[in-house]
Amino acid sequence: MALVEVDVFLIAGAAAAAVALFALYQRLRSKPKDLLRLPYLKFEDGNDSRERYVTDTPALLQIGYDRYLKHGQAFAMLNYVDENHPQVVLPIKYLKEVRNAPESKLSFPYYSEQIFSLRDTGGIFHTHEATQMIRVDLNRHLNALTPRMHDEANAALEKVLPSNNDWAPVSPYAFFSYAISRVTALALAGPELAHNDEWIGLTAKITVDIMTAAQGVRAKWRPYTRWAARWFFEPVKVVLASKRRAAELLKPVLEKRKAALREGTAGREKGSTPNFNDGVQWLLETYEAKNRKLTPEDLAHHELFAAIGAITSSVATTVGVLFDLLDHPEYLGEILQEVEEVRKEAPALPRQALNKLWKLDSFLKESQRLHSVGQVRLNRAAVVPFTFKDGLHLPAGTQISFLLQVPGLDPDLFPDPQQFKPWRFLRKREQGDADKNHFASVSDDNIFFGNGAHSCPGRFFVTDEIKLILVHLLTKYEFKYANDGEKRPADIIHDNASYPNIMTQVLYRKK
Ligand code: HEM
Repeated sequence: MALVEVDVFLIAGAAAAAVALFALYQRLRSKPKDLLRLPYLKFEDGNDSRERYVTDTPALLQIGYDRYLKHGQAFAMLNYVDENHPQVVLPIKYLKEVRNAPESKLSFPYYSEQIFSLRDTGGIFHTHEATQMIRVDLNRHLNALTPRMHDEANAALEKVLPSNNDWAPVSPYAFFSYAISRVTALALAGPELAHNDEWIGLTAKITVDIMTAAQGVRAKWRPYTRWAARWFFEPVKVVLASKRRAAELLKPVLEKRKAALREGTAGREKGSTPNFNDGVQWLLETYEAKNRKLTPEDLAHHELFAAIGAITSSVATTVGVLFDLLDHPEYLGEILQEVEEVRKEAPALPRQALNKLWKLDSFLKESQRLHSVGQVRLNRAAVVPFTFKDGLHLPAGTQISFLLQVPGLDPDLFPDPQQFKPWRFLRKREQGDADKNHFASVSDDNIFFGNGAHSCPGRFFVTDEIKLILVHLLTKYEFKYANDGEKRPADIIHDNASYPNIMTQVLYRKK
């Protein structure tokens, strides 16, 4: 009897182990796609190739919006960075939970690490110090900075758009890129580097360099060899060289600032005007207050991270606005009239005056509604498996996002969505809450600058910067397309990225 019992236990135990092993095997075999339990969206017309996604993703997002998101349902689709981990696009009802989820569960830095393949490309990791410097110090000093930003923008534009009476060709991307990089450098890196063309060139192109390195590594190197790319792959070497060079350029500035603090000549005493008021100084003082040593390499890391956030999207936004102004010259008169009225009271255009440029503000917002820079927002990656309150489950590593551009074209949200109505948001401000619906505002139905803890800390700065630059351009220069009948060129699409055509040239002349 004892023998029979032992046999039964043995057989039962072996069966249980087999079932467990089979379940484990199934789990290991199943791809994250199977674990997601979400509809998987793909092109259904016979061409679902990787190349199709590069140029046609917005069309697929539109289908996903109509079929799923509008009915409160999330969907999954190809993740072009990692084909084994589909990306998940969420309807807006999940916004609050994503916003409130701790960094240890749904992470923006982890998403950036994946999307820029940072571990393989020597790229720039998210830095808390740079983010805080912008969120706290830059915003606190914006009133004082605005007149200096104004002078810097004017000087930069005069340099790249020299006086001429005849129409001359020019690249909007080039002159906006130069002016924005200079104003950014003034605020974040200080006047020394704002007037250093090598710094301007380096910061203007670092984002593109990092994207090129990331795309190249993913396309040309197998995952298990990518760690070696830093020694043998030119685009990665370019990024690493830029980081080293940035530290070299920052070193003398940092040494000067440290000496001034040591010798008491920085003007930091109560009641005196500080001699230095920029990102380098704020970072240095934050480090010193915590007894931390700031090295040129650390400083370069923070400065380059800030520049990545500050320059590329801002340039793309302004290029698009210029195209829209050229497409709709009938509104220029009203914008200029508003500028004149505001200037009558405050000729130097301090921040308070810039805030009164409601028409220009509304124009910027309408330009972005129709042609958003980027198709998605609130990009996060699940650090650990994450389950929403309604049971929607994300395996670890899943990337999530919310749509930006497609809802902007939804007739239920924006009547006559294809029509450019420059005062659309002005009317909303006049009829509702004046503190909502302006360019820099962030809300549940307005995620251009993100939402929650990571919402863009530079949005007030960039709103002022764009307005200062446009006021100068529109009052001093005239622009037109090179050919009669020309219109805004189609935006450039690359997977989830979208931005105005940066190759287009226009004609300009001084007024
Ligand atoms: C039109 C121009 C800009 C656009 C469209 C833009 C958009 C965004 C978006 C969508 C985010 C992520 C928000 C989220 O996921 O919740 C972000 C984050 C960030 N932006 Fe901007 N931004 C712009 C300009 C700037 C400028 C001028 C600066 C610096 C002065 C800046 C610095 C940053 C930083 C540091 C972060 C990371 C914030 C964090 O992790 O907490 N951005 N931006």
